[in-house]
Amino acid sequence: HHRAMSALPKVYVTRRIPPDGLDILRKSGQVQFELWDSDDPVPRVELLNKVKGCDGILCVLTEKIDAQLLDVAGPNLKVLSTMSVGYDHLSLEELKKRGIRVGYTPEVLTDAVAELTVALLLATSRRLIEATHEAKTGGWGTWRTMWLCGHELANSTVGILGLGRIGVAIAERLKPFKVKKFIYTDVEPRTELANMINAEYVSLDELAKQSDFLAICCALTPETHGICNWNLFSKMKKNAIFINTSRGGVVNQEDLYEALSTGLIAGAGLDVTTPEPLPTHHPLYTLKNCVILPHIASASYTTRNAMSALAANNLLAGLRGEAMPKELKL
Ligand code: DGY
Repeated sequence: HHRAMSALPKVYVTRRIPPDGLDILRKSGQVQFELWDSDDPVPRVELLNKVKGCDGILCVLTEKIDAQLLDVAGPNLKVLSTMSVGYDHLSLEELKKRGIRVGYTPEVLTDAVAELTVALLLATSRRLIEATHEAKTGGWGTWRTMWLCGHELANSTVGILGLGRIGVAIAERLKPFKVKKFIYTDVEPRTELANMINAEYVSLDELAKQSDFLAICCALTPETHGICNWNLFSKMKKNAIFINTSRGGVVNQEDLYEALSTGLIAGAGLDVTTPEPLPTHHPLYTLKNCVILPHIASASYTTRNAMSALAANNLLAGLRGEAMPKELKL
């Protein structure tokens, strides 16, 4: 009895994940797992201690999976499953070198992220946060002809930086708002996806110049790090609304602050920042035309459970030596 137990692959789960994923792990009978049973990230020292000798790790995006951690984990480690579609917290090169397979969670969060992106876009362009603040703090004097005017989607050009599943889903949702034109840029044309939303491929320069709304939907990589900088903002329209639901690292925040505070662009909605959490004293919070959300784009009950279930199933399949439901090609 004891032998059978100790023969089960050892797994460390770095966070209290939504119930669906935990149920799958428990009921599988396939692994013995330990859980950092908290809503807050596991301290690095504790993490390094716990991954020693593990066969599998299920993590979230706050854990840096780098050479140091992989060295400490040791040669038993076969599978790393992240409960996220983003993988900028993983050293892919180091994982590949060690032959460790990686699972992630694309698709299951696309609807939730697209929905939140539209909500953030409208909240920013129609100044909803400013408006509710005015209403409850006595700023609502009377109906005024130009008060709290914003920019509308009707007849606009919407630009997408990084056209993937999420960019397409955003465009599909925005289309009924009578958007005139969708444009996008990427490392190369993505014709199949672009055709779904009738989007035109343009250069980054043209994207900046033509967009009334610019949605950032790319992965954070060395190539996209800081790609939204002064060079980009200075080419944008004065009425432009900038929306980022990808990763904070794609934005140069000092340049964004300058662009917003000098009226170079009209507004920004950010669900992601550098760092996270963004300290409450950060200058971006002082700007009325900047709406900041605490990284909640995938935060629906359904989606977070689906992500946790997929992460669990990726992990279990990987440990069985089978194809994962969603495996990252390294
Ligand atoms: C992801 O999955 O990468 C998001 O940032 C969190 O859902």
